Amino acid sequence: MTEETEKKRILTGDRPTGNLHLGHYVGSLQNRVELQDKYDCYFIIADLHTLTTKPEKEHILKIRDNVREMVLDYLACGIDPKKSTIYLQSAIPAVYEMNLIFEMMISINRLTGLPSLKEMARNAHIDDESIPFGLLGYPVLQSADILMPRAHLVPVGKDNQAHIELCRSIARKFNAYYGEVFPEPDVLLSNVPTLIGTDGQGKMSKSAGNSIFLADDPKTVEKKVRGMYTDPNRVHANIPGTVEGNPVFIYHDIFNPNKEEVEDLKKRYREGTVGDVEVKDKLAYAINQFLAPIRERRQVFSEDKGYVEQVIYEGTMHMNEVANATVKEMRSAMGLTGGWNKISRVARKRQGS
Ligand code: TRP
Repeated sequence: MTEETEKKRILTGDRPTGNLHLGHYVGSLQNRVELQDKYDCYFIIADLHTLTTKPEKEHILKIRDNVREMVLDYLACGIDPKKSTIYLQSAIPAVYEMNLIFEMMISINRLTGLPSLKEMARNAHIDDESIPFGLLGYPVLQSADILMPRAHLVPVGKDNQAHIELCRSIARKFNAYYGEVFPEPDVLLSNVPTLIGTDGQGKMSKSAGNSIFLADDPKTVEKKVRGMYTDPNRVHANIPGTVEGNPVFIYHDIFNPNKEEVEDLKKRYREGTVGDVEVKDKLAYAINQFLAPIRERRQVFSEDKGYVEQVIYEGTMHMNEVANATVKEMRSAMGLTGGWNKISRVARKRQGS
């Protein structure tokens, strides 16, 4: 066995909903970059999952651009297509087939009981009576993604943890019916809690309009940081402020490598001897320093015509091979292959060919 085949496999990814932000970076991208040396990594661009709430053609046409932007973000952060497979979900025929088979391995009750179902419906402004069958099946489709390369580990956030549990149930049920075909994947929870948004009101998310994107230019970052929520009681620079839970200091702790400066700012903030402007200007500088190499790589990859497309193309071709091998084994374990083979044999014999 070569070293390559001994590596455990990882699958994770994102719906192509737009540009990725600092929350994605600290919550997952950073971790993925490290994982790709130790594991055989598959990163899915889960475009089919976006259809669970938005199946319209306008939407499908719109997310095409998102795919490119998202992969540019991946590459800029250091996801390396020489080490990892980046692929487009909708271009893998096997996923539609695996999804159907896995639908037989899970009860409706289990799916309706997931808090994520109502949450996804609410976010998409779908009322309880109009939940699409496909949205109910979201975690089943996700299980097809995960079991396709027979992944051992799935790095996701807490919000997806129940889906991985469900995937384990599907794998277990399948194996019980037809023999050991799939490993039961483990969840790899990211150790960084979700990053708070610039508004201090909740987690950073594109839809909340409280995000700093990896592709933001320096001026945009400065503007967003200047508008950041801080200690609301501190209407003057000479009022002692609270550092704990203050988004500006949460960001300083993560993105400012100059710990001395951060400690000094915190001290003066608590004493009421520093203005918000200074704290924010230093933060904007730190974030811009942090983003500079990412921006630079993004630019290079973006100007290399056809490069992003080539990365997705090669990754998808590779995943197709992996997927076809899994489906072949799945069908054979189920006895579907044998049934069809027999029919073909008998029919051909009668035709005399
Ligand atoms: N559900 C993930 C999200 O919240 C996207 C996704 C689709 C995924 N398939 C996956 C994540 C498989 C991990 C594994 O965007």
